Formats: sequence, structure tokens, C-alpha cells
Amino acid sequence: MCGIVGYVGEKQALEVVVEGLRKLEYRGYDSAGVAVVSGDHLDVRKKAGKLANLESLLGTDPLASSTIGIGHTRWATHGGPTDANAHPHVSEDGRVAVIHNGIIENFAELRAELTAAGVTLSSETDTEVVAHILARSLPAVGGDLAEAMRHTCQRLEGAFTLVAVVADDTDVVVAARRNSPLVVGLGQGENFLASDVSAFVAYTREALELGQDQVVSITREGVTITDFDGVAVEAKPFTVTWDAAAAEKGGHDTFMMKEIYEQPKSVADALRGRVGTDGRLQLDEMRLSDSDLREIDKIVVIACGTAYHAGLVAKYAIEHWTRIPVDVELASEFRYRDPIVDDRTLTIAISQSGETMDTLMALRYAREQGSKALAICNTVGSTIPRESDAVLYTYAGPEIAVASTKAFLTQIIAAYLVGLYLAQVRGNMFGDEIASVMRDLQDMPQAVDRVLDTVEPVTELARELAAVPSVLFIGRHVGYPVALEGALKLKELAYMHAEGFAAGELKHGPIALIEEGVPVVVVVPSPRGRATLHDKIISNMQEVRARGARTIVIAEEGDETVVPYADHIIRVPVVPTLMQPLVSTVPLQVFACAMATAKGHDVDQPRNLAKSVTVE
Ligand code: F6R
Repeated sequence: MCGIVGYVGEKQALEVVVEGLRKLEYRGYDSAGVAVVSGDHLDVRKKAGKLANLESLLGTDPLASSTIGIGHTRWATHGGPTDANAHPHVSEDGRVAVIHNGIIENFAELRAELTAAGVTLSSETDTEVVAHILARSLPAVGGDLAEAMRHTCQRLEGAFTLVAVVADDTDVVVAARRNSPLVVGLGQGENFLASDVSAFVAYTREALELGQDQVVSITREGVTITDFDGVAVEAKPFTVTWDAAAAEKGGHDTFMMKEIYEQPKSVADALRGRVGTDGRLQLDEMRLSDSDLREIDKIVVIACGTAYHAGLVAKYAIEHWTRIPVDVELASEFRYRDPIVDDRTLTIAISQSGETMDTLMALRYAREQGSKALAICNTVGSTIPRESDAVLYTYAGPEIAVASTKAFLTQIIAAYLVGLYLAQVRGNMFGDEIASVMRDLQDMPQAVDRVLDTVEPVTELARELAAVPSVLFIGRHVGYPVALEGALKLKELAYMHAEGFAAGELKHGPIALIEEGVPVVVVVPSPRGRATLHDKIISNMQEVRARGARTIVIAEEGDETVVPYADHIIRVPVVPTLMQPLVSTVPLQVFACAMATAKGHDVDQPRNLAKSVTVE
């Protein structure tokens, strides 16, 4: 949510910053802006709308040449998406420029204080107050921007990453972080700041993770980090494991299609290297002992959106393998209902970005109650894994499209690995049973590949249905979260009414929505699994068809019993019951993507959304 870039080095800052913003635009696209320091003044351009609008402005009104600059792409919180509310915000004397990701919760109070002191604010944002306070702090600290930033941060409440430059200093960019993401890129004679590594990975793969409540200054020569009191702190270095090409579209029209087609590889990568030389499963980071894990009597999964759906799928497998009860909770609701969590609870936070504020706050709450915490995350070094006792990275590679696809499949894989790991430690499964499930998982990249090979009719069907006002999704068992995920994808991309239901719930209300021609996507369980489930969904199909629904049936190859009740059949390979979500979700991703494309929507950057939701 909001993308931030800072650069100081030998290159033209504008080029580096705009290129970085292009990589971060998935984080927000309500406006974009840049500031460079040139001579002894700041040069700022900003524009409402996507980055392309800013680039057009820069075409007609170029910036001064400079090798130090900052840039921002915005997801609006305080104040609409206008030019005036776009970042950078500049202090009243025009000497300090600030960009921000997060929310300054006490901004109204600070704004009132500044207004009383005679400052005229020129935007409706919470950020602008920071520019004024920072500029006003500078004289008292001899113009030291880092010290002024520390003083300013002491006055701020809420979540923020702030990055600032000052007019008469062409050597330093200063940033601060509390609860919002910020990483440092380490170059030769140049250094970078960004919301995530994709902004600078074309220049360097060496990076530093920043901790909570830290201020960082980057110059051409080096990086200095302190806490908000000015005490020097060490940052954890890490090397980015993917290269710049991974953040390009690779011949696909959209990042989303590229990411859908990457899923066989992502699933394989998520599974790679999980079995140690002793034949036992291993996670990426484990700061919990086996005896800690044996004492666990309850698992709580916290997550949002698609990651929540991955948690719902995982519940079936983890309970089945470990016999530990699993609650799956929407992170945004969790800490507001006095949940029962203690030192025998394992809280599993699932998050692609590792920065989702709702999930982070729920995680912190669970830990405060004594819970152990395990993170399933795609972003190495992000806050959620950093604040957990154990970590399993999903290794899906960068997910740029706002709608999550490959992250979902790899989250399921990772959660399954956690379930098997617990079963191994607690002795719920024999080694050969775990090895057998691992073999099934190892077959999944190929199975997903097969789905992708046969997906073309789904695209045609989506085009044909593009004008319908509503699509319903039903499923049972692990097919139920798949139905929820299919509906979420359609809502966010095609901007239409779409809803997922547990098929058994239809008769308790939702069946009233069925009328002539309403498309109902049915995620059919395997007839080889629990036979009753399969029989029951066949009945549900008959029930909706009897009321005029047009059924789009996702069924495994060879399941002929669905044929009489299906208007359209999408075939998926035969896989074990618990693996079905890994194949049946894929056609639904393609369906949503194709329907949005047919409606002329921007698939990678759907309206009102941003990739990484760093506000509550
Ligand atoms: C939907 C989607 C969102 C995210 C949710 C959690 O396509 O992408 O629902 O899944 O915002 O994000 P992370 O996984 O980064 O915590």
C-alpha cells in the first residue's frame, strides 16, 4: 500500500526512481510523484492517476538533473486521489520533501497545532504534517536531517515509512520505519531505499532488513541506522534470490497471466529442499523446540483475503494429519473478540507480502497472549516472519499482479508442509505415510501444468459470460474454500457480484438467488474421495438446475456422473482429495482474468485495490 523509492548514487536519480516506481505500482496507483535535490533546491513533480500520467508530465515539464531523489506511488487513505494530495509533500519553506506509506493516527491533532502556528496546509493528507514538523525541527539540530527525523518520529502515532530529502543536501536520503515496510538496497557508490526489493533488484541483490522504530540514512558511501533515540543498530543483511527478469511480464499480456502460468514452477520451488539428509522434513527457520510443538493443543490460522482461503484449505489437511483442532480466523476480526489463545496455541500467520497490517496486528496480539507463532510468507525479511518463532517461505517469486494466484497455491503447499512437520514431530504419522504425501505433493507441478494446457475453453466461456450480472460458486469440503477464492477473484477483477457458498448451505437461504440463466460454478469433489460428498454435490447441481441455473462444473477426468447436470464441464486431473484445490483453483483464476479482460478492465491493477495492505 503506497510504494516508496529513495536513491543516492552516480546515476540520474529520476530514471532509477521512476523505474523503481514502475515495479512498485502494484502497491497503489492513485497518484505518483518524485522529488530530486538539485543545487540547493528541491524539484518536485506529482500527478493524480497512474505513473503514466506523471511520466507525461515529466515529458512536458522535465526535472532538473540530479543523482539523489525520492518517489512515491499512492494508495489513497487521507484525502482523495488528486494532484494536491499526491506525494511528495513539501514543507512551507519548500526545503523538505517527504513521502509516506501508512497512516499517521494523530495527524488531526498535529494539523491543528500547525494551523495554530500559522502554517497553511495545502493538502488533505496526514503526510503533509510530517513535512512541516520535520522542517521545523531542522534548525534546532543544526540541519541534521536524521536527527530531525528522529525527533519528528517521537511525535507520530500510527504506522509509517517516511522518506525525506532536504534542499541543500545532495548527499543523504533519510527514512524512518514503524510498522510499514522498508528495505535498503546496497550498491557500489550508490544506495537505495524501497518498500520492497523489486524496486532496486535490477541494480543490486544485496539488501538490509530494517527493524521496528528505526531511522536510516543512505549516502553514496554507506548506510547508518539508529533507533528513534539515536542509538546505533545493526541491520540484518540478506541476498535477493530472484533476478530482475522475474519481475517482468515474460511475454504474457499481464502479470496475472504470467503468474498463473508460473504456478507449476512456483509449486515446485515451494517444495524444493524440504526433506533433510536424515529424511525428515525441515522448515526455513525454527526457533521452537520439538517439545514446544508437542505441547501445542490448538492451532489458530490468521490471514486475510486469498491467504485466508489458503488457511481454510489447510484446516482440512492439518486436522486430518495431526488431530490438533485448527481455527481459521480473519485477521481483521481476530483481536477484537477476545480470542482464547495461550502458550499451548500455535498461531500460523499466512501472508504473501508479510506486511498486511491486519495480520501483523493479529499476530502480535496472539504472541502477547503467549502463543507461539509460525509465519508462512512469500517475502523474505518482511515483518511477519521477522516477528515469528518459525518461518516457512513459499518461494513463489515476486507476485506483481494485485490479485493473488501463485501465492495461493504455494501457501497451501507450505501449510501442508507445516501440518506434516507437526505430524512428524508429534508422531501422528509414520515416516512412510509422510513420504507418501510428499510424493503426492511432488506430482502437483505436473498436474497444474496439465490444467494450464487445457484451459483455453475456460477463456472462451468467460468471454461468453462477460455480460452476466452475477456468478455463484459452490463447493464442499476442500472445494468450499476454492469456491470462495473463485468468487473473490471474480469480484476483484471483473467488478461483479460473485459469491461462494458451501454447497450444503444453498438450501438454507442462498438458493433463493437462483433464477433462469444464473451461472453456478460447481467445484465437484472426487467420487473416489468421500462418496457421500460427491453424491451430495450431484444433488445440489440438480437443485440449482431445476431452478434455471446454468452449471459450470469443475470435475476430475473420468467422472462421468456429472455429465447430465453440467452445462459446461472443465476437467482437472485426478489427484488425491486434499490436493484438489491445487488443480481446481487454476481454471477459476483463468476464468476471472479472462472475464475482466473481456470487460476491458486492467487485470493487474484492479480499481480501488493495492497489493500490500499496510493499513488496518
Ligand atoms: C486477493 C488478494 C488479497 C490478499 C490479502 C492478503 O487476490 O490478493 O485478498 O490475499 O490482502 O495479503 P497478504 O497475503 O499479502 O497478507
